[in-house]
Amino acid sequence: MTRMQGKAAIVTGAASGIGRATAILFAREGARVLLTDLDPAGEAVADSIRGEGGEVHFLRHDVSDEASWTTAIRRALEAFGRLDVLVNNAGISFAKPLGETTLAEWRQLMAVNLDGVFLGTREAVRAMRGSGGGAIINVSSASGLVGSPTASAYCASKGGVRLFTKAVALEVAGDGIRVNSIHPGGVRTPIWAKADFWPGLVAQSGSEDAAFQALAGAAPLGRLAEPEEIAEAILYLASDASKFMTGSELVIDGGYTAR
Ligand SMILES: NC(=O)c1ccc[n+]([C@@H]2O[C@H](COP(=O)([O-])OP(=O)(O)OC[C@H]3O[C@@H](n4cnc5c(N)ncnc54)[C@H](O)[C@@H]3O)[C@@H](O)[C@H]2O)c1
Repeated sequence: MTRMQGKAAIVTGAASGIGRATAILFAREGARVLLTDLDPAGEAVADSIRGEGGEVHFLRHDVSDEASWTTAIRRALEAFGRLDVLVNNAGISFAKPLGETTLAEWRQLMAVNLDGVFLGTREAVRAMRGSGGGAIINVSSASGLVGSPTASAYCASKGGVRLFTKAVALEVAGDGIRVNSIHPGGVRTPIWAKADFWPGLVAQSGSEDAAFQALAGAAPLGRLAEPEEIAEAILYLASDASKFMTGSELVIDGGYTAR
């Protein structure tokens, strides 16, 4: 349980799903973690990690807001004295045909999924340069690799995260900062329940479990991932086990994009 020993990390979107699982795993592996989220429920996640002996803090933080990033980085540096790892995980999604997608919806999605990753990466690079390097993991998606109907805005944002990651990786390699993206396929998290189509899918399938099973059909392995499985892949990119990896894209999608 020492794969993150001595490291200080920020995990965004840590109140729920993949971010929550990642913060819990990081702390169990010895990292000190600043959990951030727009949702104050992140405080309860931090409390439960502290109950296991983890050294963590929670900050309400909007990743799309520039000033909010200054506060987040300062808070991590005040609490831990350094920043070794940033996981840009917070994200939103919606499913809508292109013709029904408004400019406001497009911009809102880009603000969180793409501006958030840009701002976080820029601010973390500044902090990491001061402490000899670090690792940044940007949570993209299988939808950043292949298209998906009714998800053009989401695919554009996640495809943007993929190439942004590679470009920055080239720029900061000399500073000892590694930047990689991760590309999950379908993961069983609350993000699905926020989708407009979810109540209809649950009604049609008969239950939430059956609705998740209907989504699982997209992956050759025949199921959705659990958030803990994605957290393991993020941990790998954050830890020294991946110290020769930068600018790469780690796909963890049950075979979805292998076709
Ligand atoms: N669940 C999947 O199937 C799946 C697949 C591929 C990629 N992803 C990506 O994984 C990441 C995590 O998603 P998840 O499935 O755990 O979703 P989730 O909805 O369970 O968690 C996302 C968290 O981000 C937070 N958040 C949203 N907007 C924010 C903002 N502006 N500032 C700060 N926090 C904000 C939410 O409050 C929430 O706690 C997202 O980037 C998502 O696009 C998810």
